[in-house]
Amino acid sequence: MAFDIIVKGGVMPDGTRADIAIKDGVIAAVDRDIAAEAAEVIDAAGKLVSPPFVDGHFHMDATLSYGRPRVNASGTLLEGIALWGELKRIQTRDEIVARALDYCHMAVGNGILAIRSHVDVTDPTFATVEALLEVRERVRGTLDLQLVAFPQDGWYRAAGGEAGVIRALDAGVDVVGGIPHHERTMADGAQSVRAACRIAADRGLMVDLHCDETDDPSSRHIETLVTETVNCGLEGRTVGSHLTSMHSMDNNYASKLTALIAEAEVAAIPNPLVNITLQGRHDTYPKRRGLTRVPELRAAGVTVAFGQDCIQDPWYSLGTGDMLDAAHMGLHVAHMTDPAGMRDAFDMVTATPAQILGLQFGLEPGKRGSLVVLDAPDPVSAVRDRPARIAVVSDGRVVARTVPAQTTVIAAF
Ligand code: FE2
Repeated sequence: MAFDIIVKGGVMPDGTRADIAIKDGVIAAVDRDIAAEAAEVIDAAGKLVSPPFVDGHFHMDATLSYGRPRVNASGTLLEGIALWGELKRIQTRDEIVARALDYCHMAVGNGILAIRSHVDVTDPTFATVEALLEVRERVRGTLDLQLVAFPQDGWYRAAGGEAGVIRALDAGVDVVGGIPHHERTMADGAQSVRAACRIAADRGLMVDLHCDETDDPSSRHIETLVTETVNCGLEGRTVGSHLTSMHSMDNNYASKLTALIAEAEVAAIPNPLVNITLQGRHDTYPKRRGLTRVPELRAAGVTVAFGQDCIQDPWYSLGTGDMLDAAHMGLHVAHMTDPAGMRDAFDMVTATPAQILGLQFGLEPGKRGSLVVLDAPDPVSAVRDRPARIAVVSDGRVVARTVPAQTTVIAAF
């Protein structure tokens, strides 16, 4: 049998060595030595071969807009939201599409083959939604773009917030979003969570809320998300993104809450690069880290993935579109620097977010023919070095290659 691609001699994330053969966009065989013809052979001898990187939380409508029309002087979430409001008034649909496509090129080059992007539905022109629906189609076949109807200025607080969510879903946006901590009252926030879950249940959709993205420990909308997930039969289909208030909660309450999250099969997507940047801004010293309780959630059985959230936009001035940056920051902030923790951090930007998004990625026969060859021998080295992605294969096609940089030290000691 002739295959389309054979990846030879790679090291799987679990340390085993295998060849991977891809035919018609699907992994057809995984074996120690595949001696068959292939249209293309990728030499991965001694290199880590991984499922694709997946970004479970991103904002593609704002990406690469840093400095337009100005930078975020306070570094807070709230100034970021205000600044995004200024940008919304002046940016065009074409500009959003162009920036998003630029970002997609960066992402694919770094081996990201699926992104869940929140899209602001409170833009009265609806340009953000239309732009990202166009981008979703243009990148289809290379990059899976899953869109979340996100009422940035509030489900109830923004005029037309709820209507914008419904309009976006009617237009083909995939997932129901929300931002309960940004509503006027706790009661409004809780009601917005109920509304989001009800809509998702009625339409057979998933839910992904910006949930409790604050240092205020009294922000407990995750409680309502857990409850409504059970009430609406949405177990395994809801995500609490950020959950930063859990960082500041009383330990007794947090331990109860962690068990509730696990029972309801609500997944968590913290965003280390942005959480460490935006949170703690109202503190003097000590300054809180702001990241949610990642090891404790994982120990309780909660599915936890790291996302990027923002790249060069009103909320985050840095970022390279590399999920290994998110894993690197995440394992530092969450004290996951033991070997098992570092290994877990790699899964939290590859296999785990793929599971949350419902993608058939993986290195087993029958899974999609999508993978990344890295210039590193194992996952821990990859998180440490953030090495070149030698080859990126999407559904049986090579979509990016990188030649690793070489440094020659001239100095003699
Ligand atoms: Fe976000």
